[in-house]
Formats: sequence, structure tokens, C-alpha cells
Amino acid sequence: MSKNTETKLSYIDDIFVSEPEAIDPERYITAKYYVESPMGLRSAGIAIATEESIGTWTEITTTNDWVRSRLPAKLFKMEGKDDAGLVYVAYPLDLFDIEKSGIANILSMVAGNLFGLSAIKNVRLLDIHFPRSVVDYYPGPKFGIDGVRRLVGTEKSPRPHLGTIVKPKVGLSPEQTAAVCYEAAVGGVDFIKDDETLVSQKFCPLDERVSKVMEKLDRVKSETGRRVLFAVNVTASPEKMVKNAEVALDNGCNTLMLDIVILGFPTVEWFITNHDFKVPIHMHRAMHAAFTRNPKHGIAMLPLAKISRLLGGDQLHVGSGAGKMGGEEGHSAELASIIAFLKEEMHGKKTTFPVASGGIHPGFVPANFRVFGTDFVINAGGGIHGHPNGTRAGATAMKQAIDACVKGIELEEYAKTHKELEIALGLWGTSKLEGD
Ligand code: 3PG
Ligand code: 3PG
Ligand code: MG
Repeated sequence: MSKNTETKLSYIDDIFVSEPEAIDPERYITAKYYVESPMGLRSAGIAIATEESIGTWTEITTTNDWVRSRLPAKLFKMEGKDDAGLVYVAYPLDLFDIEKSGIANILSMVAGNLFGLSAIKNVRLLDIHFPRSVVDYYPGPKFGIDGVRRLVGTEKSPRPHLGTIVKPKVGLSPEQTAAVCYEAAVGGVDFIKDDETLVSQKFCPLDERVSKVMEKLDRVKSETGRRVLFAVNVTASPEKMVKNAEVALDNGCNTLMLDIVILGFPTVEWFITNHDFKVPIHMHRAMHAAFTRNPKHGIAMLPLAKISRLLGGDQLHVGSGAGKMGGEEGHSAELASIIAFLKEEMHGKKTTFPVASGGIHPGFVPANFRVFGTDFVINAGGGIHGHPNGTRAGATAMKQAIDACVKGIELEEYAKTHKELEIALGLWGTSKLEGD
């Protein structure tokens, strides 16, 4: 038996290569990959273009001139060293059926078989550029940052929104959940979300949870005039998810939350584009780190953020500038590019509110404020419900930290006259980013 169990990728054809000037960005979906391969950048880039369009590892007898002239993907740019660097591949729009297969078809090519090619040691999809015709096909966010601000009432004097995740993640009854939400809302949060693992477990059925929480949030509205958003996690297989959403909306919920990576983008696409839900969509990204975390292989968060905005995410978790997650090599630069993308112009589509979350407490607020700017939602679970004086004081301490940032006052200084913040800083301290 042969010891050679690997198929050699020996098929190299110039139809899979192009000069950069010949690539009209309006006629191609382009993708940027980091690759490491003993084949060298050029061969690795051609291998991706070949595999993901009309070729395979060897020449074939079944192709034809039309296929070869219209459909090859093209390696059009390379940067870096020969064994490790960046390759840019352009996929002609003719390759795709956006109407009938949508985001599934796009991902099957730009993020498909290529990750398994054994001749390429590592490959990471870093970015995708969608031409206007593709962007136009999708709805984009219904509310965007401005729309969410209008619901909350912060459009006239923008500041970061404060959010909380009810903790413990799961286990509280509907009454207990509602009591925690009331305290958080009175303490100053603008936004409350289910945790990613809660849907409708027996101890906390979705219908009862939503109706009890909304009753409390209505009370907060009449007592304080503030509207607090409650994002209900409806993640499930498609039909169940629609049912969950209907039940949540019937019980007054004002935001729907989806675990988008777990669901898969085609399901998210179907859920949003085939239903006219009149509330913001909050996108949680649990499971993303299985493929976003390795800086050399997988898919970076930026392409996920682009797809999420295209499909209609009004709010999206993107990681934090300081907290319990992140901190890998290149994390800050990636985070900055994601935040910039979610807020920038995209052929007239609305923006997406970036959400910072994971291990955040008041001491981490300034570091996140510096990274995100004014337009972001800062979420704390433990950093609110872990306050020694309880949830209300915890929310107040986080709100005080936000106010301090907006006013440009050091936390320690502000804490001298704000006791909830003083207690929180005493317990958890403050954190500084490099360069602070
Ligand atoms: C993320 O960005 O994915 C989070 O850290 C987890 O989000 P959550 O804290 O709101 O569940
Ligand atoms: C998570 O699931 O990571 C959270 O919802 C964030 O919670 P934390 O603020 O307690 O870390
Ligand atoms: Mg969570």
C-alpha cells in the first residue's frame, strides 16, 4: 500500500489569477485570507480560487470554454512572506445564486472547502467585501443605532447604553427573573437580555418570563418615564423559533435575541427576511470562538459582523476592549475594525449597535469607552449582580461609571461622591489598557 495518502494539488492554471486592476469590486465578492503553506502564497491562493470556483486538484475533461471564461475565482493580490501572508481572491457574481440560496451559497464558496485543503497548513478568512448589488439584496438593520436610541430615548443626548444579562444564566423562575429585571431597570440599565443558554426551560417558561418581566418594565416606565428594552432569546430550530418569537411578542417583548452562530446564517436570514418582526434584533455570537479565536486558522469576527449587519442585526456582540474574553494576539486591532465597520456607511443600510460584554464591571468601563466611543452597549452580568449591595446598586455603579466617562472625569475621582461606584471599585478595582 502506498504511504502517500495525500492528494497532491498539482493543478495550477493562470485562469485563476488576475491583475488587481482587472477586478471591478462591483462585479465580484472579494475575500481576504491569511495563509500559511509550504506551497507558497501564489500556489495557495490559486488552490483556494480553484477549489472554490470551477476546479479541483487536477485537470478535468468535463469543463468547457463558457465555464472557464466566466466562472473562475481569481487570486488578485498577495502580501507578506512566501510561506505566510495574505491572499486576496475575487469570486465573480455569476458564481452565486443570491436569490435562491442567499448567504448559504456565498459561504459555501468564500468559507467552504478551503479550510480543509491539506496543502494549506493554516488559512483564516479575515474579511469579505460585498458589492452593492449584494448589499442591496439584503434588508440590513431595521432600527440601527439611531432607531434603538429612539426607542430608549437617548437620541438627543447620546451616551453608551447600559445593559445587563440576568444572572445566574439559568435557574431563576419567571418571578425571580422579573424581580432582578426591576432592580436593574430602576438602578439605571437601558437594556436587559436573556443569557444565551436560556430559552424556555421548565423552571422559566418563556411566556411567563416575558409577561412578568414586561409587567415590571412597564412599571419602571410609569415610575421613571424610561423605556427599558428586554431581549428575549428565541433561539431554536426554525419553526420553534418563530413560535417562540410570536409568544414573546404576544407577551409584550420589545427585542428578539438570536444566537446567530449556533443557528447558522441561513436560518437567521430566513427568520429576519421572511417575517416582519417590528422590534430590534439582538445578535449574540456564542460558539463563534470555536473558529474566530485562532489567529492563524478559521474565520475572523469581521466577516461575521458584516454578514450580521447585512442580514438585519440591530445589536451585535463583538467582544470587549477589556473583560473576561478576548486578549488574543491582534484582538484590539480586529475589534477596532469591527466597531468601525458597524458604524460606517454601507450603501444606505442602517448601522448596528456594537455590544461589549463578558466579565465587565465598572472598573472596565473607561477602557471600553475608549475603544468603542459613545455608540455602544456595555453589558455586565456579574459586574452588576455581584455588587455587594445588590442588583440595583450594581446597575447604579455601572451607570455612574458611564456618566464619569461621558463627563471626562476619572473613575476614582467620581467615586468620591458616588458611593455605589466606590464600593464596586473597592471590590473589583479598575483596569487600564496599554497606552491609557
Ligand atoms: C460575547 O461577546 O459573546 C460575550 O462575551 C458574551 O455575551 P453575553 O455576555 O451577553 O452573554
Ligand atoms: C456571559 O455569558 O459571558 C455573560 O452573559 C457575560 O456575563 P458576565 O458579565 O457575568 O461575564
Ligand atoms: Mg452570556
